[in-house]
Amino acid sequence: MTGNRMEASTQSAAVRIQRFDPDVDKKPYFRTYHIPVTADTTILDALDAIKQHQDGSVTFRRSCRHAICGSCAMNINGRNTLVCNQPVRAHLDKKNQISIRPLPYLPIIKDLVVDRSSFWEQYLKVKPWLLPPDGVPEKEYRVSPDEVAALQNAETCIMCGACYSACQVVALNKNYLGPHALLKAFLRVLDPRDSQPGQRLQQLDGDYGVFRCHTIFNCIDACPKQLNPTEAIETLRKLIQKRVTFAAAREVRQEKLLSESR
Ligand code: F3S
Ligand code: FES
Repeated sequence: MTGNRMEASTQSAAVRIQRFDPDVDKKPYFRTYHIPVTADTTILDALDAIKQHQDGSVTFRRSCRHAICGSCAMNINGRNTLVCNQPVRAHLDKKNQISIRPLPYLPIIKDLVVDRSSFWEQYLKVKPWLLPPDGVPEKEYRVSPDEVAALQNAETCIMCGACYSACQVVALNKNYLGPHALLKAFLRVLDPRDSQPGQRLQQLDGDYGVFRCHTIFNCIDACPKQLNPTEAIETLRKLIQKRVTFAAAREVRQEKLLSESR
């Protein structure tokens, strides 16, 4: 590429970053940094460049840079998303400006880093791991393609917190399990290898479970993996209505899985 063509493909962007250092600042404020961006510059690249060349105190989380680890979720122009797979240019307004804030409704530790404790606490409450029956088979469980397909709405969740911090029910009440935990619960309840769907559904029927969701849909908009926590919550609500028969059918299915694997 010639020098002129390279220049033509570069434009200046005004990157507004919300800053807050609890040791120094009374409240958050914005600072604007001007950087050159190309079509390939991601928002994370922009943050890295600012930190490296303009202001080493800018603080943010990131790790994989490939939309896998979930650590770089932030709020861009009012919408939660990952920043490592988003080009800056796609988010510039008419003034060539982009605004970066931390995930909302969570305590700010510093700048773009939030305290995710409540997110993880709710996640652990649903026991997001598989609870197999006694006598786990030596060979693998054989699960049907249909059963695998039913789990696909939840399987690619990377636990970034974008849905959780977009949910206004979470904003009002941190006891609510939240879309991320309910999506994991859905994954386990629907998994034919799990032995405790009845107990799980009973828990999800509690005060801060699926019926606390107000079907606001923000979680769907925020999910960078295009998952649908609202649909999962709706499925769980329906299963709660037939919890006893669902649990009994699972026991039968478990017996079949165990005998097939012997
Ligand atoms: Fe919250 Fe999603 Fe329900 S945004 S209220 S969990 S539909
Ligand atoms: Fe890992 Fe963005 S840095 S998901």
